[in-house]
Amino acid sequence: NKSEFGLFGLGVMGKSLCRNLANNGFKISMFNRHIDAIEVDVAKKFKENYPELSNSLAFDDIAAFVNSLQEPRRIMLMVNAGKTIDYVIEDLLPHLSENDILIDGGNSNYLKTKERFDYLKTKNIHFIGAGVSGGEEGALKGPSIMPSGNENAYKEIKPFLETIAAKDKNDLPCCTYIGTEGSGHFVKMVHNGIEYVEMQLLAEVITIFQSLEYNPDEIANILESWKATTNSYLLEITVDILRKKEENDWLIHKIVDKAGNKGTGNWTTIAAAQLGVPNTMIASALFARYTSFFKEERTEASKNFEASSKSKPNISTEAISEAYQFARIINHYQGFRLIQQASENYNWNINLSELARIWTGGCIIKSDLMTDLVQVFKSQQNILNDETIKNQILKLKASVKNVVSECVLNEIAIPSLSESINFLHNFAKENSSANIIQAQRDYFGAHTYQRKDDPSGKFYHTQWK
Ligand code: 6PG
Repeated sequence: NKSEFGLFGLGVMGKSLCRNLANNGFKISMFNRHIDAIEVDVAKKFKENYPELSNSLAFDDIAAFVNSLQEPRRIMLMVNAGKTIDYVIEDLLPHLSENDILIDGGNSNYLKTKERFDYLKTKNIHFIGAGVSGGEEGALKGPSIMPSGNENAYKEIKPFLETIAAKDKNDLPCCTYIGTEGSGHFVKMVHNGIEYVEMQLLAEVITIFQSLEYNPDEIANILESWKATTNSYLLEITVDILRKKEENDWLIHKIVDKAGNKGTGNWTTIAAAQLGVPNTMIASALFARYTSFFKEERTEASKNFEASSKSKPNISTEAISEAYQFARIINHYQGFRLIQQASENYNWNINLSELARIWTGGCIIKSDLMTDLVQVFKSQQNILNDETIKNQILKLKASVKNVVSECVLNEIAIPSLSESINFLHNFAKENSSANIIQAQRDYFGAHTYQRKDDPSGKFYHTQWK
């Protein structure tokens, strides 16, 4: 009576996925290495704590774990991204048979996923890189899952992943085959990049309201009212966060203002640079986190440069809401544009509408806007060309200009909000300043330039002196 599915690694996400699989009636085997220091068999203890796991098998021995699974074996790895994945693969390999399937459900780097995919192919083992979003609760109740690799191998695990995934508004699973190689981890990485910006925009909006002397409850009430026009999971949790109190003060007042990160925003920015796509919003949110980390130097600099008396910006609540909506559109434009580029370069053939669809449930960036994009991408790769989006941008533009300029005049830091309008101004221009760059490059390095009066595209060099 062997198990249908194996889960390797019982951290927070691994445990939640086990319970989700078991709750859906699957017979599973669970493995966690024995932790000698605390003399605990993690898997057995975990099984004892949850009645839904009574039919599951718990192991701390790899050979026994692998042998408990039906062939082809389906083993999902929920261990820390990075070197650990390679160690685990090496530990498992001697026990595996041809056509077994390993699924990496962590936030692995997509280039590493391709390397592992190629390596395991030489051993006749299938490797599926699967982005999983939704945190602990999502993993338990239904995450958004982004699997990639060999499509036939995916078919072997599809019933499991699609059953445990969140469901969209039409009751379809928020899980779809993304493409070959590391495309699943690539889109999960960009998901996180978009997530960084969505979080940063909310942080900036709150900073603006603070400058207008609203307290966290008042800000929460305003953001709550935005749910009617621009709802998202991150907006909802931010309302909860603003309202949380501890000992008569708001908890956010006690949280150190240094933002951490686990690397996916950094990778998205690197990927954007490598693929030549201007993901300026993600870079701005990433660097805002990095800036926050220089707490001591910031404190020093604030003594020297921060205005001692501050005036209030002259901005309406409505304008802040509109600026926020505008910046979110640009964020989504840039994020999907990066995925489109990667899909073209690597021949992944990613269906952007399907991708937006599996991001309408279970994941951290689910939102009303994402739901709208499912339709938009059915007829359009470039959301800026969609009639409704175009009209929204035109309607919201005046507000974002007003908000950004008032913030600059009043020394309120809004790196991502300001980048949104800056990007549009830079992008929506027939004639850019790049002619000067080309002339400079030709001047000092004879790098040549093309001429507007020669449509053949021929390259010219000038003796500038
Ligand atoms: C998700 C989250 C998840 C995790 C990130 C946070 O989709 O469920 O994105 O993957 O919360 O690792 O990343 P940072 O630690 O870099 O903020």
